[in-house]
Amino acid sequence: QSGVITIDPGFKNTGSTTSAITFLDGEKGILRYRGYSIEDLAEKSNFLEVSFLLIYGHLPSKEEYTRFVESITKHTLVHEDVKKILEGFPSTAHPMGVLSSLVCAQTAFYPESLDPNRSSDEVDMSIIRLIAKMPTFAAWSYKNQIGQPVNYPDNKQNYASNFLKMMFANPAEQYEVDPVVANALDKLLILHADHEQNCSTATVRVVGSSHASMYASISAGINALWGPLHGGANQAVIEMLENIKQDGGDTKKWMAKAKDKNDPFRLMGFGHRVYKNFDPRAKIIKKAADDVLEKLGVKDPVLDIAKGLEEEALRDPYFVERKLYPNVDFYSGIIYRALGIPTDMFTVMFAMGRLPGWIAQWKEMRENKEPIGRPRQVYTGANERPYVGMSDR
Ligand code: SDX
Repeated sequence: QSGVITIDPGFKNTGSTTSAITFLDGEKGILRYRGYSIEDLAEKSNFLEVSFLLIYGHLPSKEEYTRFVESITKHTLVHEDVKKILEGFPSTAHPMGVLSSLVCAQTAFYPESLDPNRSSDEVDMSIIRLIAKMPTFAAWSYKNQIGQPVNYPDNKQNYASNFLKMMFANPAEQYEVDPVVANALDKLLILHADHEQNCSTATVRVVGSSHASMYASISAGINALWGPLHGGANQAVIEMLENIKQDGGDTKKWMAKAKDKNDPFRLMGFGHRVYKNFDPRAKIIKKAADDVLEKLGVKDPVLDIAKGLEEEALRDPYFVERKLYPNVDFYSGIIYRALGIPTDMFTVMFAMGRLPGWIAQWKEMRENKEPIGRPRQVYTGANERPYVGMSDR
């Protein structure tokens, strides 16, 4: 094997690419999309504008923004055959599995997306279609789980409201979208929109580097995000907080479990590969949680348990030494719950938010003509040995 191979499990010290999309500073807790701070964008922008910024590299002019939003609105409807795919899933199918399948199935409706040498206009069309249809796929994956008829998109609604209406409207009763809920959801989508080379984005880049279609690459990213150590953590946080609540709110006992090396339990929503002081998104989401719950008049006992855990962890040497602080997933589930989003859909919300980031990173990788991702290894298996027939084994 030519040259020295250095093994770097989890790529903790490996840079896989150069990128102009997102900047993180783990020590200072800085997150910027194309140079704009997450604090500024969360407060002043909206999710579709942030999507345009991530994908095309600049804040859209009024004309660009209007055209982008109109194109997305025009493409929210999905092919009726998507319902046939949906009918193939049992109601026990987790919405993330349904979502990744529906996204990948788009290659069947748009076979031109399989051509790696498509024009940039055709790539832009794939991007518009996927951003437009993601809320429809997400809401339909939920309706499949609860055995209710799907709702068609309502193009009079804005992006977040359209999703909420498809999620919660049903033929038996009137449903009006609460603008407080829609605005909170739009802000959460912004906060999840990109995060440089995290596990699912690195997956999108590696799969896309084989010149697989954008739909197949993003479907792979959805599956990587599903894991409880990554995007699945928001669902795991709520399940953990519920367990602590059932257990009488004994946070000290659960902190001890998280520190016990013989116990696989980890404090979900704590720790981060890059942020070693605080996750700036967690700070914004924690404040939003207080605001949204107050506006909606929701009292959620697990929010108090979450705050108690955070206070204890900030004082606990084990957590302080390892620089373990709340991450983006620690408080997001509490807001989703207050918005009426079911736990099984929390990671789907993360995928909806991360979509423009995955698209931007896939596009940058392809435009930079990056080589196929193919790492090496250090072999530790058996030396050469002769075949042994069955009768001699
Ligand atoms: C996301 O990468 C991204 O940017 C991801 C993300 C994004 O936007 O894409 O930010 C979204 O995935 C946030 C993370 C969500 N995951 C969780 O909340 C799950 C719980 N946290 C972890 O399992 C862990 O902290 C990771 C996966 C987030 C990071 O793991 P690392 O960087 O590989 O760190 P590690 O596992 O090597 O841990 C270092 C030490 C170990 O102890 P020692 O061996 O040094 O004694 O810290 C301990 C770990 O045991 N540790 C924890 C812990 N996280 C790390 N101990 C208890 N509870 C935890 N949560």
